[in-house]
Amino acid sequence: MKFIPYGKQSIDEKDIDAVVTVLKSDFLTQGPAITRFEKAISEYTGAKYCVVVANATAALHIAVKSLNIEIGMEGITSPNTFVASSNCLIYNGLKPVFADIEPDTYNINPNEIEKQITKKTKVIIPVHFAGRSCDMKNINEIAKKNNLFVIEDAAHAIGSNHEDGTKVGNCKYSDMTIFSFHPVKTITTGEGGAITTNNKDLYEKLILLRSHGITKDPDLLTQNTGPWYYEMQDLGFNYRMTDIQAALGLTQLSKLETFKKRRNEIIQKYNSGLANLNWLKIPKTDKSDLCFHLYVVQIDFEKIGKTRATVMDFLKSKNIGSQVHYIPVHTQPYYKKNYGYNWGDYPLAEDYYQKALSLPLYPNLLEQDIENIIKTVRSIT
Ligand SMILES: Cc1ncc(COP(=O)(O)O)c(C=O)c1O
Repeated sequence: MKFIPYGKQSIDEKDIDAVVTVLKSDFLTQGPAITRFEKAISEYTGAKYCVVVANATAALHIAVKSLNIEIGMEGITSPNTFVASSNCLIYNGLKPVFADIEPDTYNINPNEIEKQITKKTKVIIPVHFAGRSCDMKNINEIAKKNNLFVIEDAAHAIGSNHEDGTKVGNCKYSDMTIFSFHPVKTITTGEGGAITTNNKDLYEKLILLRSHGITKDPDLLTQNTGPWYYEMQDLGFNYRMTDIQAALGLTQLSKLETFKKRRNEIIQKYNSGLANLNWLKIPKTDKSDLCFHLYVVQIDFEKIGKTRATVMDFLKSKNIGSQVHYIPVHTQPYYKKNYGYNWGDYPLAEDYYQKALSLPLYPNLLEQDIENIIKTVRSIT
């Protein structure tokens, strides 16, 4: 059996043809595929505007920057996330603050957010962990009450719905939503990210920040001395996506619903195959219409008398990849050294982490792979 990674892209001839078409065209970057991809994401999510960028880390960076928050203020996010969700606060001179997670969804807990709010808090970055939308209605109410911005980190969650049945990315409960198109995510552009928003001012700001803070738009220039003329109006970056990536993004997006269906089928199989084990907890099943990026189980390693490393090695010896999402961000050396965080600060995220294991989840998994993974996992005790 070939090695099965925990996540993998699904690329077909349609994707390859789309990329080749761009390679044979006049524009490799800053061409028409970018606007087409942005329009398609806006239509899919229901948000008014979309800005595609080089990756989701860049998306988070400029999303926070576009809010013009004074240096020294604070932002709140989940400790159960990839470091990018909180690093974007640091890039912008804000202190990263964490709010502990819910024990069943592993998402940030709105009640914990409220406890962390101070006079300096300006923004909340809820992370839709593994693809499950956070309790956005509640988070939005807390934000409104305290005059805070909300940026949804939906790096894992394209294709998922909020509890009310509307699409993640529609920004109904937030100022902006960001997505990631890294190859392990549900759709890919190689590297890539997007920001959606319903706010025209934020949209215009994001367009500027994506490309050095430079504009050539006659309506925005303070003067116009000729056809060569451009102005740098803010300190931006080169966070542009290429047309090669956007063309891939378009074909990938057209297959999102098929990917979602297959991911959900695999999850159903895992859930029934791994149910009723007293040392393994399957993910919460709920009524929301979700598109999962990760399949994460909780294993009581103490109970089975094995370490996680031994279990991962055993799976690897059977050609099954696994991964751990996530080491709580506040326990990273950089965060401990610079912000004084430590183990014990966010007990639920830490307890979750000790037991977490992600099993392979991607559309091209074969039936026999799924059965084999279930059988092998059941045999680890
Ligand atoms: C929750 C979350 N946010 C942001 C990112 C950053 O995404 P990218 O790799 O596209 O920069 C990731 C990447 O894994 C992530 O998991």
